[in-house]
Amino acid sequence: MTIAIIGSGNVAGALAAGLKKAGHRVLIGARFPLSEKSIRLAAVLGEDAFCTVEAAAAGAEALIITTPAEKVPDLIPQLKDAAGKIIIDATNAIRMKPEPYPTAFHAIKALVGAEHVVKCFNTTGFENMAHPDYRGTGLDMFMAGDSQKAKELARKLALDIGFAACWDFGGDDKVELLEKLALCWINLAIMQGHGRNMAFKILKRD
Ligand SMILES: NC(=O)c1ccc[n+]([C@@H]2O[C@H](COP(=O)([O-])OP(=O)(O)OC[C@H]3O[C@@H](n4cnc5c(N)ncnc54)[C@H](OP(=O)(O)O)[C@@H]3O)[C@@H](O)[C@H]2O)c1
Repeated sequence: MTIAIIGSGNVAGALAAGLKKAGHRVLIGARFPLSEKSIRLAAVLGEDAFCTVEAAAAGAEALIITTPAEKVPDLIPQLKDAAGKIIIDATNAIRMKPEPYPTAFHAIKALVGAEHVVKCFNTTGFENMAHPDYRGTGLDMFMAGDSQKAKELARKLALDIGFAACWDFGGDDKVELLEKLALCWINLAIMQGHGRNMAFKILKRD
């Protein structure tokens, strides 16, 4: 399917490469002129994958938002064609929030008027999204939101890029909990100094 990734930084690059490898068509909705990170990503994806945010939103069946969370309100006029589409919010409002909303997920639901919004791809480092396999063991991804349709797609895309599972945290009321899980990863990996080559995996006793 055609997926628009909005933003062209670390997370965008990791997801775009995996989705392209899995056979999806990826459009990158980026600002112009292209930044250094965009130019590096264009070398991997091809320049024809790059377009305006508006064109990416119009040309894709689903969107993944990978900009800073607080920039999401600025994007709204360019996302008007996305209202009926599935929108995956991969952002974390850790330092700055998309005021007056607590997360980009809430801003998207309110300002785009989209029904099928899901939080996913926010709980681990971009390196793990690029390489979700640790010596043959697939890492786990997590998602939350009320839309079953959006969660079905998020799970499919997570598995497509190599995650072993995508655990459903629940509805819209669990979105902020998922951002807290991201903060747990940041705490261990960065603040406690364990490094970015670590990830969460759920174990279940049979
Ligand atoms: N880094 C991680 O490991 C990680 C993991 C999970 C979730 N996240 C979350 O994912 C989001 C992105 O993180 P990142 O590390 O990928 O950041 P990044 O490398 O700084 O990339 C952010 C991208 O957003 C673009 N952008 C900013 N404002 C924009 C606007 N108004 N219109 C269009 N594009 C805009 C930037 O474009 P320019 O290049 O033109 O400035 C850049 O391409 C953040 O919310 C972060 O919390 C990050």
